[in-house]
Amino acid sequence: MTTTHLAEDSPPEPSQALQEHFDATIAHDQRIEPRDWMPEGYRKTLVRQIAQHAHSEIIGMQPEGEWITRAPSLRRKAILFAKVQDEAGHGLYLYSAAETLGADRADLTDRLIEGRQKYSSIFNYPTLSFADVGVIGWFVDGAAICNQVPLCRSSYGPYARAMVRICKEESFHQRQGYELLMTMMRGTESQREMVQDAVNRWWWPSLMMFGPPDDASPNSAQSMAWKIKRHSNDELRQRFVDMTVPQAEKLGVTLPDPDLEWNAERGRHDFGTPDWDELMQVIKGGGPCNAQRMERRRSAHEDGAWVREAATAHAAKRARKEPSA
Ligand SMILES: [Fe+2]
Ligand SMILES: [Fe+2]
Repeated sequence: MTTTHLAEDSPPEPSQALQEHFDATIAHDQRIEPRDWMPEGYRKTLVRQIAQHAHSEIIGMQPEGEWITRAPSLRRKAILFAKVQDEAGHGLYLYSAAETLGADRADLTDRLIEGRQKYSSIFNYPTLSFADVGVIGWFVDGAAICNQVPLCRSSYGPYARAMVRICKEESFHQRQGYELLMTMMRGTESQREMVQDAVNRWWWPSLMMFGPPDDASPNSAQSMAWKIKRHSNDELRQRFVDMTVPQAEKLGVTLPDPDLEWNAERGRHDFGTPDWDELMQVIKGGGPCNAQRMERRRSAHEDGAWVREAATAHAAKRARKEPSA
């Protein structure tokens, strides 16, 4: 009897206590911070997700960056320059957030360059006209907002806080895209055609940004249980469609989906099924621009080697001059 009593009262194993503390933190919607114990699976999932997000911001500079030298006016050039620069900043915050989990930025870059980590499928499509800059702002930054606003409440503190600032900037990006398209729609017939053509090309790839359908997304359930992710892929996709349809009407463009219609019973829009085979193809590296994007990223990394070497040499010299107390 005494033995039983002792067994019940003795403190739980340290790992069990830590696990319970972690579970309680998640259950109470509080934040996990870098100093806190966390399960290895949680840490790995976060590193993978944050790194993939960071890589997407950096690779995502390319499709629009191609238009900086060809922007139609100084004003449009300055706006686009600032937007692309913001995306670089987003990548840097996110690599920093990954570093709080013990990841190494140089290692993450190697993983991207060697094709061991992914970036968003959307950036493997070409930008064929300046209207693409507007449509990327409207659709791609719009989809990023749908995905990322809930991440401001993600259970991992540094990721959630990075998202707050990033989302503010993304909403600026979306507005600048929409404003550009509004201007083009008030222009000539051929400008209106450019906008419609860009909408036709970017609509389906934008819906694919939310990932495969829920029943084909095996990691989602665990990420939602850990409150890293707050809504399923299909729910986020639906939100994006519901948000975008009235904006398309106002703009005067047609979204290229014959099945798109308001469903009064559900209070949401019904819409067609994206081509999931195409998504798989792009994820595997077979999209129209995968090779070009990776080649560009690799050569930028190689071209920047001297900067990294110089910075390392400078840091070493300073350390020699000012030995830390
Ligand atoms: Fe961004
Ligand atoms: Fe953006």
